Amino acid sequence: MQNRTSLPSWKKLTSHADEIKQQHMSELFKQDPKRFEKFSIQLAPFLVDYSKNLISDSTMDLLINLAIESDVEAWREKMFNGEKINRTEDRAVLHTALRNRSETPLILEGKDINVDVQLALDKMKKFSDKVRQGLWKGYSGKRITDVVNIGVGGSNLGPQMVTEALKQYSDNSVNVHYVSNVDGTQIANVLRPLNPEKVLFIVSSKTFTTTETMTNAKTAMKWLVSSSFDQSAIAKHFVAVSSNKKNATEFGIDEENIFDMWDWVGGRFSLWSAIGLPIAIDLGFERFIELLEGAYELDQHFCNTPLEENAPVILALLSVWNCTFLGAQSQAILPYDQSLHMLSAYLQQAEMESNGKSVAWDGKSISYSTVPSIWGELGINGQHAFYQYLHQSNNVVPADFIGSVESVTPVQGHHETLMANFFAQTQALMQGVDETQVRADLKAKGRTQDYIDKVAPHKVHKGNRPTNTILMKRISPRSLGSLIALYEHKIFVQGIILQICSFDQWGVELGKGLANNIQEELSTGQLSEQHDSSTTGLINFYQSYTK
Ligand code: F6P
Repeated sequence: MQNRTSLPSWKKLTSHADEIKQQHMSELFKQDPKRFEKFSIQLAPFLVDYSKNLISDSTMDLLINLAIESDVEAWREKMFNGEKINRTEDRAVLHTALRNRSETPLILEGKDINVDVQLALDKMKKFSDKVRQGLWKGYSGKRITDVVNIGVGGSNLGPQMVTEALKQYSDNSVNVHYVSNVDGTQIANVLRPLNPEKVLFIVSSKTFTTTETMTNAKTAMKWLVSSSFDQSAIAKHFVAVSSNKKNATEFGIDEENIFDMWDWVGGRFSLWSAIGLPIAIDLGFERFIELLEGAYELDQHFCNTPLEENAPVILALLSVWNCTFLGAQSQAILPYDQSLHMLSAYLQQAEMESNGKSVAWDGKSISYSTVPSIWGELGINGQHAFYQYLHQSNNVVPADFIGSVESVTPVQGHHETLMANFFAQTQALMQGVDETQVRADLKAKGRTQDYIDKVAPHKVHKGNRPTNTILMKRISPRSLGSLIALYEHKIFVQGIILQICSFDQWGVELGKGLANNIQEELSTGQLSEQHDSSTTGLINFYQSYTK
């Protein structure tokens, strides 16, 4: 396997990075009045402006060459065609098949998986319609008013993020809640106001082995049975989404209440499958289909657009540029839209669980820095919390700003204020303000020379901080579907360029295994001698209070 660092484009990018670091974006803007037109892409649901990155025409040419030399297009085809590109788990990666709106068969191991997908969608439609129309009754014959989704990671973040983002599209015929944490506080708080006669639980777990989810599901079952005094109530109040039918039925869920998942859908890419059931129940099945259609439109853009105009490809290349070549360690996700308040949490899993790795496809250590840590917050809240750091710390944090032209909840006078900040921040991060300007401004305000000398250095903003701006027309099921797919494909391309196995997650296993052992020790009170002195000391301290 040819190491990426030996590619001609990689070598050129390394020396080009040293050169461009000497430049300032504000100068690049002055030199090229067409910079915005050149470095932005307009798609139906949003505009992607990447002109406020430390890039020139040569940078983009080299980055596109890197994509070409990394065979991004061939890998893209392999993914869409169902080749087993998840090499460590020997699986295809076909979340795109879940939202495929074309009629072309997709054969996997001799079977057209479009047929399975359609059957699963039909089942979701029937079920969600029934629940929404009040035809699915609880054990005492009452209609379901509340749905509680129990799941964690990919079995929670996607559907919950979408439910939150599309709240304005819900007719509230059913209330949807999410329980992901094994901390009993969460499930206790969710269940407290609910009436067991009217609650439906969705146990979402691809593997149906995740301890936290199983613990929450058992608690929910106990809560239901202690109200109904009848085990048979479970069939009316519990459904599961899983690829592990055996475990789900052993757990007590009726086989006909199990919604299928397949091993070719990764957990963090699964909201398009029956894992999206709470979305369909909340918004109605037609809206869920609109979400899929939005994602499909972006899939089409990804598959059919030349690399240099391909939004996910460009975003992936810029991430590689900023992190691997220019040294950024983290990336902020900053939505200026209340609906997207869970986006950064969602993208944290999507990107960090996919590409937060340090071994290449061939099992050898990767010498270059891979992906950034992803973090973020709603823009305005962030401005009053950590933007100080974004503007003036010594660490450069590339950021994605995501806003909407039209608010889904127009309240007079609010949106302009929000968007004025949205536009101002990327300008400020790019331009900065130098000491000469700071001094001139202070002088114009009539400040004394002593004051100016004291304060001026603190007011300097170096600028030159990279941002992408994604300006959505409006948040809707369709545009949100496209936005999520944009990031999914960005993550895929990043993984290809960095030669990372994006679709496994071995890094979560070690801690899980140790937790299982420790849980055993906590319940028996017998500590093994395997622990280090810190872990032993902590457990002993804990047990001295719980005994
Ligand atoms: O955190 C590890 C992980 O395996 C994620 O990849 C996954 O989304 C989550 O746990 C939940 O897994 P499951 O759906 O199998 O319960």
